[in-house]
Amino acid sequence: MRRFFVAWCVAAAGCGQPGAQPDEPDAATSGMSGAGTTSGRKTTSASASSEGASADTSGSGWTVDPDGSTTGPAPTLDEQLAEILAAQAVPVVPLDPAPPAHPAAVALGEALFYDPLLSGNEDIACATCHHPTLGTGDGLSLSLGTGAVGLGPARAQGEHPPFVPRHAPSLLNVGDPGFTRMFWDARVEVDAQGTLRTPLGPALPPGLGSALAAQAMFPVLDRLEMRGQPGDTTVMGEVNELAALPDDDPAAIWAAVMARLLAVDGYVALFSAAYPERALDSLTFVDAANALAAYQGEAFAYPDAPWDDYLRGDLSAISDAAKFGAILFYGAAQCGNCHSGALLTDHRVHNTGIPQLGPGVGASAPFDHGRALVEDDPGQRFAFRTPTLRNVAVTAPYMHDGVLLDFEAVLVHYGDPLRGIEDLDPDGLLPELVPTLQRDPGHIEEITGLLSAELQTEPSNVGLSNLREFLETLTDPAVVDLPTRVPAAVPSGLPVP
Ligand code: HEC
Ligand code: HEC
Repeated sequence: MRRFFVAWCVAAAGCGQPGAQPDEPDAATSGMSGAGTTSGRKTTSASASSEGASADTSGSGWTVDPDGSTTGPAPTLDEQLAEILAAQAVPVVPLDPAPPAHPAAVALGEALFYDPLLSGNEDIACATCHHPTLGTGDGLSLSLGTGAVGLGPARAQGEHPPFVPRHAPSLLNVGDPGFTRMFWDARVEVDAQGTLRTPLGPALPPGLGSALAAQAMFPVLDRLEMRGQPGDTTVMGEVNELAALPDDDPAAIWAAVMARLLAVDGYVALFSAAYPERALDSLTFVDAANALAAYQGEAFAYPDAPWDDYLRGDLSAISDAAKFGAILFYGAAQCGNCHSGALLTDHRVHNTGIPQLGPGVGASAPFDHGRALVEDDPGQRFAFRTPTLRNVAVTAPYMHDGVLLDFEAVLVHYGDPLRGIEDLDPDGLLPELVPTLQRDPGHIEEITGLLSAELQTEPSNVGLSNLREFLETLTDPAVVDLPTRVPAAVPSGLPVP
C-alpha cells in the first residue's frame, strides 16, 4: 500500500497559513501526517499557498503582517479558488456547446460509424472500439481489432488477434473546434496556420474539414484495426478485397471502401441527402470522413459538467471537497499547466512517465516511443498528447496504453511518477498483457530521465479524494444517455456492435 496522503502544502491544506481549513478526510490526514512539512512541489506551490493567504487581490479584506501573522477574515474556499483560477495562463472557462452540424451529414456519419462494412472482414466498426456504452472507448487497456469477437472486455476472452499497441481514446467532445490534434502522438493535426499535417503528407487528399475528419481516413487503412490481412475472407465468406490491396496505395483502399458503400442502396440515399449537389460518382472517402466527423462532433458532445456550472457562477454546483481538489489541481499539483483551458488539455505532448504495456509501436517495439516516432527527436521519446479530462469519470482505463485502470492508480502515479513505473500493481491487467509490462531498469531510467519538468519534483502525496472529487465534477451527467446513441440497424444489414 502506497502513501496517498500528506504533504502538498496548499492554501486549502493550511501549511500554517490561515485560510479555508480542510475538513475533508484526506486533506485532514494531510494536515496530520504532513504537519510541519512543507514539501510543496515547486516554488509555484509555495507561492500558490501564500497567494491563497494574502487575499488583498481577491477583495476579501485580508492582510498579511510583515511578521507573517495574519489578520482579517479568512478567504472563502471560492475566493481562494477564484484567485488560483485567475492566475492560470490559459483561461479556465466552460466549454461552448457543439457547433451545429448538417443533419443529413450527421445521419450519414452515424450509419458509417456503426457499420462493419467499412472493415475488410466486415466484422468491426468504428463503434466496436469507441462504443457509447463504454464511454466511447472499448473498456480495454489495448484495443482488439478485426478478427476478435464481442464488445468491451469480452473481446479479450479466448482466441483473438494481437492487441493494437495503444488504448482507444474516448471521443467525447472530440468535435470541439479546440480539438486540433488527433491520436496519442498528435500525428494528425491542424497547425496554427490552419495547415493539416498527417503521416500521409501529400497522399492525403484535399477537402477534409478538420483534424477529426482527417483522422477518419486512417482506421480503414490499418490492417490490425479494420482492414485485415492478405488472404482474409469476410464474415460472409467472400474475398476481403480491401486487405488484398498494397499498404502503399491508400487511394486504392479508400476507393474500394467507397465502392462497397455505394453498392448499398441505403448509402446511395444517405450520401445523396448529405451531398445533394454532388454527382454520385464524384463522391470519395473524404466525403465519408467529413460525415463521420459531423456525427462524432454532434453525438459525442457532452460539454455541460457541474464544473461548468461552477465556472458560470453557481457556487453550489460542486462540493467543498471538489473545490479543495480544484485548488490542488490548478495550484500546487500543477495539473492545470497541461490540463488547461476549457477542454482541460494543452494539446501538447509530454512525458508523464507512464509504464509501457503491450507490444510497442513500429520501430520502437517493444516500447512505444510516442511523439519521437513522428518527430525525429529522441528528446520526445515517451511523450504523448495530454488527453482532455472532460467526462473522464466514464473513460477508464487511462493513458496511451490503458495501463492505469482507475482514478486511484492515476493519482498514485502522479504522487510519485519516478516510483510509479517500478511500483505499478499489475493486478487487474489482463493476465496475457502482464508479461509485456516493461520493468527493465535501463528502460525505466530512460523514461524517467525524460520526464516532464512539472513532474520532476519531490515525491509528494496527493489529496487523493479531493483531486478525485474534482475530476468527478468534469463529467456531464447527461453521459448516462450515451447508450441511446446506438442505432438499431445500419444500411449494410450487418450486425450493429
Ligand atoms: C480496433 C479498434 C479501433 C477501431 C475499429 C477504430 N478506432 Fe479509433 N482509435 C483506436 C485507437 C487505439 C486509437 C489511438 C491510436 C493512436 O493514438 O495511435 C484511436 C484513435 C481515434 C481518434 C483520435 C481521438 C483522439 O483523442 O486523438 C478518433 C477521432 C477515432 N479513433 C475515431 C475512429 C473512427 C471514426 C473509426 C472508424 C472509421 C475508428 N476510430 C475505428 C481504436 C480504434
Ligand atoms: C506535464 C503535463 C501534465 C501534468 C502536469 C499533468 N498531466 Fe495528466 N496527463 C498528461 C499527459 C501527457 C497524459 C497522457 C500520458 C500518456 O498517456 O502517456 C495525462 C493523462 C492524465 C489522465 C488520464 C486521462 C485519460 O483519458 O487517459 C488523467 C486522469 C490525468 N492526466 C490527470 C492529471 C492530474 C490529476 C494531474 C495533477 C496531479 C495531472 N494530470 C498532471 C499531462 C500532464
